[in-house]
Amino acid sequence: MNVLLTGGAGYIGTHTAVELLQAGHGVVVVDSLVNSHEEALRRVERITGREVAFHRVDCTDAEAMRGVFERHDIDAVIHLAGFKAVGESVEQPLRYYRNNLDALLTLCETMDAAGVRDLVLSSSATVYGDPRRVPIVEDAELSTTNPYGNTKLFAERILDDLATADPSWRIISLRYFNPIGAHPSGLIGEDPQGVPNNLFPYIAQVAAGRRERLSVYGDDYDTPDGTGVRDYLHVVDLANGHLAAVDHLADTPGHRVYNLGTGQGTSVMEGLHAFERATGSALPYTVTGRRPGDIAVCYADPTAASRDLGWKAELTVDDACRDAWRWQSGNPGGFAG
Ligand code: UD1
Repeated sequence: MNVLLTGGAGYIGTHTAVELLQAGHGVVVVDSLVNSHEEALRRVERITGREVAFHRVDCTDAEAMRGVFERHDIDAVIHLAGFKAVGESVEQPLRYYRNNLDALLTLCETMDAAGVRDLVLSSSATVYGDPRRVPIVEDAELSTTNPYGNTKLFAERILDDLATADPSWRIISLRYFNPIGAHPSGLIGEDPQGVPNNLFPYIAQVAAGRRERLSVYGDDYDTPDGTGVRDYLHVVDLANGHLAAVDHLADTPGHRVYNLGTGQGTSVMEGLHAFERATGSALPYTVTGRRPGDIAVCYADPTAASRDLGWKAELTVDDACRDAWRWQSGNPGGFAG
């Protein structure tokens, strides 16, 4: 299959491109490069020994998107492009709604006109808000706490309506839990701009000496060690989840949603200790107050993805820390350095 990856130069996109190429699929990438580097795609080519067709295009640009569909014979699309910083979305809601929803609508209109109706959407566990019960199942109540989360939830609803109106669409939304780690080659990984918001990129920069110490956001949650618990999954497992979704689109008419997680909860302190094992040194931290909007516990019930897509997370948090550290220590300045 020839798969178009929007946002394909980013963290999840590059890892997904590697797995698709290694499985024998063709990959076309569109990316605006506002939050990613073309060098990342050269690394994908190095890992796989295969070529990636790249177009520097913003998904909201209808004419340019049309051009991409004219130029390539696309069978399916994985839509990853979008803004993703929670704090920024609270400060700039209109920019987030405009960009993320416009990108989805433009993409779907372009696909429809081109007769391509097989789509995998990058969604997020953020659509569960503060979950009533863990592990979280797909039909749990949905709620969001910020504009970024709303753009994911609205995107899913738009796709519900689209699949209802036109049954020739086959759509899978993947609700990611917390992706971490890097490709085991050490050639691609997460390359956050500025101060990382997420736990593992921050720990990696502490380990590399770029940040002084980790702030642990609260140790008074109702969890075994008092720190927040999440479902961290290796980005290579996540990438393979996209491959499984693409492979199963043909037998999933309509719009289906799947959790991609390990089913295991890991606390902030457990995550920090795993990273210490990977680096072989103690990492400084201070416990500070809770981060506003954070929840105590969030982890997936991944049964549906296993049953329908034949997908399961195989790698551990220790694997992810080892790979993240290989990437971080081999590329201290990220792709630009
Ligand atoms: C965050 C977003 C979520 C988004 C996800 C993408 C918020 C409130 N939520 O989720 O919408 O889908 O990233 O990956 O931003 N922590 C620290 N110190 C730090 C950073 C984090 O202690 O410097 C703790 C947090 O309190 C939390 C855990 O580490 O308990 C994980 O945090 P993070 O990596 O930001 O992920 P989420 O909060 O789950």
